[in-house]
Amino acid sequence: MTTEPTPVYEPSSDRHTPTGALYSDAARDHLWMHFTRHSTFEDKTDGGAGHTVPIITRGEGAYIWDDRGKKYLDGLAGLFVVQVGHGREELAEAAARQARELAFFPLWSYAHPKAIELAERLANYAPGDLNRVFFTTGGGEAVESAWKLAKQYYKLVGKPTKHKVISRAVAYHGTPQGALSITGIPAAKEMFEPLVPGAFKVPNTNQYRAPEHLRDDPKAFGLWAAERIAEAIEFEGPDTVAAVFLEPVQNSGGCFPPPPGYFQRVREICDEYDVLLVSDEVICSFGRIGDMFACNDFGYVPDIITCAKGMTSGYSPIGAMIASDRLFEPFRKGTTYFPHGYTFGGHPVSAAVAMANLDIFEREGLNKHVHDNAPKFRASLEKLLDLPLVGDVRGEGFFYGIELVKDKDTRETFDDDESERLLRGFLSKALFDAGLYCRADDRGDPVIQLAPPLIIGQPEFDEIEQKLRSVLTEAEKHL
Ligand SMILES: Cc1ncc(COP(=O)(O)O)c(C=O)c1O
Repeated sequence: MTTEPTPVYEPSSDRHTPTGALYSDAARDHLWMHFTRHSTFEDKTDGGAGHTVPIITRGEGAYIWDDRGKKYLDGLAGLFVVQVGHGREELAEAAARQARELAFFPLWSYAHPKAIELAERLANYAPGDLNRVFFTTGGGEAVESAWKLAKQYYKLVGKPTKHKVISRAVAYHGTPQGALSITGIPAAKEMFEPLVPGAFKVPNTNQYRAPEHLRDDPKAFGLWAAERIAEAIEFEGPDTVAAVFLEPVQNSGGCFPPPPGYFQRVREICDEYDVLLVSDEVICSFGRIGDMFACNDFGYVPDIITCAKGMTSGYSPIGAMIASDRLFEPFRKGTTYFPHGYTFGGHPVSAAVAMANLDIFEREGLNKHVHDNAPKFRASLEKLLDLPLVGDVRGEGFFYGIELVKDKDTRETFDDDESERLLRGFLSKALFDAGLYCRADDRGDPVIQLAPPLIIGQPEFDEIEQKLRSVLTEAEKHL
C-alpha cells in the first residue's frame, strides 16, 4: 500500500550508460528506487511485470521530457519541489559560482556567508519571533531535529518528562525513525517497528469524511478536530507531551486544508498545556499555498516551522527547522548546546541556490501569482466533479487532491483490490501516457494529487483538466 504506483512504458530507449547498458536495464539492475515495487521492472520470466523504468532526462518550465523525447506536464513539481520551474539558468549559475568560491564548509562552530544570509532571510519571512534557523539536508531531518529540540528544550526548562508528540492520522512526516513515528501511515511503519516511542495520533481534517453530523459545518468540524488534540494531551498527561506536529494542508490522504478556526483553536490548546506547535511545511512553504510560509496564509504562529523542498526549487538539497527565540533562549547560556547536526546541513551550494531561488520568487511575484491564480486552478479542477468517479476536489493554493469514489452519493470508497486495479493497474500509467506526470496515491482513500510548478496559469490548468477528464472517463470502463 505504500509503494509509489509506477507509470510504465514499453522499451524503446537508445540511451546508454558509460558501460553500454540501456539506462532502463541498468536502473533495473543497480538502482534501488525509493518506495518502489521493483517487481514492476523484473523480467516476466522472474515473475516480474517486465515494464521499463521511466527515465526523465530534461526539464524546461512546467514540462519534463523522458529519454524517448516524450513531453509531459509536470503536475507534481517533481515531488512538490520545483516551484520556479525547470531549466532556470540562474540557479545553475548560482550553484556553479558558489562551488567555485567555497564548495563546502560545515556549520559546526563555523559559518559561511550564504547560510547566514539564508538564515536571516528565512527569519524575516517567518512569523512572530521564529528567528533561529537550524539547517538540515531535507524535510525528514528537519522533523527529526524539531522533535529532538522539543525534548531537550523541556529538559532545559525544568520539565524533563515532556517528551511525547501528537500528529494526525495518515499524515506523512518523513522516514528517519523519529519522523516515522510521527508519520501516521501504518503501512509505512510496520516493517520498522518498534520505532521511537511516545508518538500519538489524532484525527485529521478530512472534511469529506468528517463525522456525519459535522460534514456540512466546517467550523464545527474544525473545533471538533482541534479538541481531539486537547483530548490526546489529557489522555497522555500534559506533563508528558512536548509537541504537536501538523501540516498546514495535510498532503497524505489527499490535501486536507484546515477548517476555519482550526489552527486558532490548536494554538490556544498548545498554549494552555505548554505544548509546542510545529508547523511541518516541508510541502506547504515557499508559495505552495501562497505565502513563503503557509502558517501566514492561515493566520497562526507556530513555535517551530520545518521546511525543505521548495526552498531551492530542488536545484540543490536543503531543509531547515526554524525555531522561536523562546526555544533558543536556554541555548544562549553556559555550556548548553544542541548536540545534533548534519555534515551537509546548510551546504554552501544549496544555501546559495536557495538565495537565488528566493530572488526569483520576489522578482517574478510568485507568491502573488499563486494567491491570484489559486481560485482559477481550483475552478478548472472542480469542472471534473461532473464525472461519476470524482467525489471531491480539495486543497489550497497550487496544491489539490481529487478523491475518486465508487459511489458519489454514498461516498463509498474502493476496497484494496479495486484501488490496486484502478490506481496501479490503470491510472498511473494512463495519466503518464497521456502526458501528465502527477500522483495517484492510495495511502488514504484513492486520490490524484496535483502540485505543479508555481509559474503556470490558465492554459496549463486547462491542459491538466482535459488530460484528467479523458483518463478518468476511460477509467470508468476499467472498473
Ligand atoms: C510534511 C512532510 N514532512 C516531511 C517530509 C520528509 O521530507 P524529506 O523527503 O525531504 O525527508 C515530507 C516529504 O514529502 C513531507 O511531505
